Amino acid sequence: SNQIKNAKLVLLGDVGTGKSSLVLRFVIGQFVEFQQSTIGAAFFSQVVSVNGESVKFEIWDTAGQERYHSLAPMYYRGAAAAVVVYDITNSATFTRAKKWVQELQAQGSSNTIIALAGNKADLLEARQVTTEEAQTYAQDNGLYLMETSAKTAINVNDIFYEIAKRLTQV
Ligand code: GTP
Ligand code: MG
Repeated sequence: SNQIKNAKLVLLGDVGTGKSSLVLRFVIGQFVEFQQSTIGAAFFSQVVSVNGESVKFEIWDTAGQERYHSLAPMYYRGAAAAVVVYDITNSATFTRAKKWVQELQAQGSSNTIIALAGNKADLLEARQVTTEEAQTYAQDNGLYLMETSAKTAINVNDIFYEIAKRLTQV
């Protein structure tokens, strides 16, 4: 159909993993080295066209700082999709990502599509989380994984496009 499908999408993940940077890359095509830490949450929207259908993402970019954790359910409740972000150069952020996935699977809607973004994939020499480790985890938990870079733009549009594709199939 030619109807626009609205889809609430939330980004979750540890502080500094690049949630805001991924959204800004996707929505305005830009990257800044000194992105400010998000306070509370920020809202963006962007339309993606896939197979002749349009999906309008209503994006909640949440704050990774622990003191905002209790706000998260407001943003993931009823979400069509969640992108859980970790930083491939920081294994603690991968541990935190797994916690977010657990929380989403326990408290979120059962039909929320969950994507895992291993961000900062441009910093290969500093890698702490292997692709294999992340891929195994993703497969075991029914998520799909993409290693992204908000800096170089690698896989950024792709992760949102893949979500849009899945949303138009339901
Ligand atoms: P909070 O809002 O505090 O939760 O952080 P965030 O997840 O939104 O991270 P943010 O986008 O603010 O990025 C944190 C820092 O990482 C910034 O200095 C970014 O420039 C940098 N950064 C984000 N994505 C990438 C990336 O793909 N590669 C590199 N090299 N740096 C990145
Ligand atoms: Mg942010």
